[in-house]
Amino acid sequence: MKPIRKAVFPVAGMGTRFLPATKSVPKEMLPLVDRPLIQYAIDEAREAGIEEFIFVSAAGKGALEDYFDTAAALEMSLKAKGKTDALKALEPTRMPEGALTIVRQRQALGLGHAVRQARHLVGDEAFAVLLPDDVIMSRKGVLAQMVDAHARVGGHMVATMDVPRPAVASYGVLDVENQKGRVLQARGMVEKPRPDVAPSTQAVVGRYILQPSVFETLANIGPGAGGELQLTDAINADASSAGLSGFQFDGERFDCGSIQGFVQATAAFALARSDLSTDFSAFIEARAEPQKISA
Ligand code: G1P
Repeated sequence: MKPIRKAVFPVAGMGTRFLPATKSVPKEMLPLVDRPLIQYAIDEAREAGIEEFIFVSAAGKGALEDYFDTAAALEMSLKAKGKTDALKALEPTRMPEGALTIVRQRQALGLGHAVRQARHLVGDEAFAVLLPDDVIMSRKGVLAQMVDAHARVGGHMVATMDVPRPAVASYGVLDVENQKGRVLQARGMVEKPRPDVAPSTQAVVGRYILQPSVFETLANIGPGAGGELQLTDAINADASSAGLSGFQFDGERFDCGSIQGFVQATAAFALARSDLSTDFSAFIEARAEPQKISA
């Protein structure tokens, strides 16, 4: 099987839940501690062996493009001042020549429509999709975990986690046939089902390894849940011929598309940082104490 070399990052979303911050800052640039959301997704993709990064972007996302460009004046000034730590902090923002391609999604017609914009750049090979809103804290990056599992099973593969039944209405949900270790063989998947009719409680998290045949189905599906062109529907339509599995990843996922998830991720990543954790956990404990007493 050929290695997975290309990844698509849908970054066209307006981020309305984070207004007013996102009035002038793309939501993918909001920082968790000191790194923007997009950096977490890029790092995870790199760890998994991705070499070509395709952003499906939109108007008003210029800061995202600049972030992965060289900042000649800034770098010269840091060099002149001997600020080697600050220069080192810029390293993850460097992209090899030609590694980043940006396409525009001109209309917000859904995730399936966004991924479809990358068709000519992906071509005829299996590829990854990472939704930067889903930030996952793990020892080994989730996409790298999936690449290993995918080498054994092939087909389409989506990351999944078990959620309480009422929560399935917010996710793509897998119709599970059987389970072998972390891999769930699936018949299909459905976008945002009603909890009482959902085929399982295995919810899709924003990491996918997809066969290029998905572009055929993406070209043919109509609007689905929420009136949008859903990636889930295209994968589902292709599941019986290409194969579909879920991968129960090892890691803790934060929904950074919501304020609650974003704030929790900020705290979790700060607590995981050796330079911040001692003071920060003392601060959190002191804040939590009065609530304990009143509870
Ligand atoms: C998207 C997908 C959904 C998936 C979710 C994971 O939904 O359509 O299948 O479960 O991401 O975060 P959204 O959150 O954009 O509504």
